[in-house]
Amino acid sequence: MKLTILGGGGFRVPLVYGALLTDRGEGRVTDVVLHDLDDDRLRAVARVLAEQAAAVPDAPRVTATTDLDEALRGADFVFSAIRVGGLEGRAADERVALAEGVLGQETVGAGGIAYGLRTVPVAVDIARRAARLAPDAWVINFTNPAGLVTEAMSRHLGDRVIGICDSPVGLGRRIARVLGADPKQAWIDYVGLNHLGWVRGLRIAGRDELPRLLADPDLLGSFEEGKLFGVDWLQSLGAIPNEYLHYYYFNRETVRAYQQAEKTRGAFLADQQARFYEEMRDPGAAALAAWDRTRAEREATYMAENRESAGAGERDADDLSGGYENVALALMRAIARDERTTLILNVRNQGALSVLDADAVIEVPCLVDSGGAHPVAVAPLPEHATGLVCAVKGVEREVLAAAGSGSRARAVKAFALHPLVDSVNVARRLVEGYTDVHPGLAYLK
Ligand code: G6P
Ligand code: MN
Repeated sequence: MKLTILGGGGFRVPLVYGALLTDRGEGRVTDVVLHDLDDDRLRAVARVLAEQAAAVPDAPRVTATTDLDEALRGADFVFSAIRVGGLEGRAADERVALAEGVLGQETVGAGGIAYGLRTVPVAVDIARRAARLAPDAWVINFTNPAGLVTEAMSRHLGDRVIGICDSPVGLGRRIARVLGADPKQAWIDYVGLNHLGWVRGLRIAGRDELPRLLADPDLLGSFEEGKLFGVDWLQSLGAIPNEYLHYYYFNRETVRAYQQAEKTRGAFLADQQARFYEEMRDPGAAALAAWDRTRAEREATYMAENRESAGAGERDADDLSGGYENVALALMRAIARDERTTLILNVRNQGALSVLDADAVIEVPCLVDSGGAHPVAVAPLPEHATGLVCAVKGVEREVLAAAGSGSRARAVKAFALHPLVDSVNVARRLVEGYTDVHPGLAYLK
């Protein structure tokens, strides 16, 4: 079985390969093709993978190419994990927004719109090629903003593209643990858009245990989201929001904290990863050790940074490393081996959340089998959450329209309609600011 990883020179690829190495089952991945535009990055990551594989018998074969069509041809699964504009682009997304006094973040608000505008045309090109060259392949989208990018690709790939995120499963796991339950036995009633969803219930053996958590301030205050949002607010909401909703519910505080930070998250990661790729220029350098060291630094600072800037509690290392690669592997296994499972994924709605149309990509529990991911019908969201979901889906649709038409006016509209952008004039200046710094937005006329 052949797995192609787009963005194969990316820093997180060894996490994916590490997960593949633990899979000894039948029908597992035997061939990994890394694709990237940057040959040096590809070579650096391939060296890390070679060291990871050294002691493992029958490790998946790894090849690398900068030719996209060659990478796609004959793939059974494609992981799309690209970062258009690199981490420098992410840092610019953050900076331009913060200078306008609005949220500069990778996926939420103005920063997420800018990243989406740069990424959608590239993702659509990949989707078109995949539909032609690997029509039976399943495309698993890791690329942020994941919901929007998955919807863009679904217009060409239908339900053959599935978007993933580790945040809902991480949240469900933390809630289950606080309740003293086995996360694997819990049914998480979660729905929304990517990075914009709520846990409304958590059923264990058919019984909803979330009311027990919401009624107990000590329990509620003891885990990350409890500290982040505060006990009172969670009790008022009657649900546990995805951590990214902190940017909505505490917008002023997060914007201010980000403005005061010495470096944005993107700038910090850009520096750190540049050092890793720089080290890899030495052909004698120990690749896996260098990668591991950089990763450990990243996780340590993520925790420290999260505490300071967002007021969050400690996030255990398990929550960071138990992430994307495991969701992706579980999804790939369920499809390839027809092992029925339930995962929270980004898929076309198809009536699961009745307030949105059938083609809108939402984040929702899905039954997965060899036929793909089938969203499970969920109870409607309360009005305030429905309002946010519809507003942000409306913004995503404007981003898709702007990317499809190249219309600058549509891009302005996308920014202006976002609940976290407080004036049409700000939206106009954001489009100016972003088109000045991003060559990838030159298509907006
Ligand atoms: C979580 C989110 C991802 C995001 C990541 C950011 O896992 O679900 O969508 O990419 O955090 O991590 P980073 O280290 O890049 O800031
Ligand atoms: Mn995510």
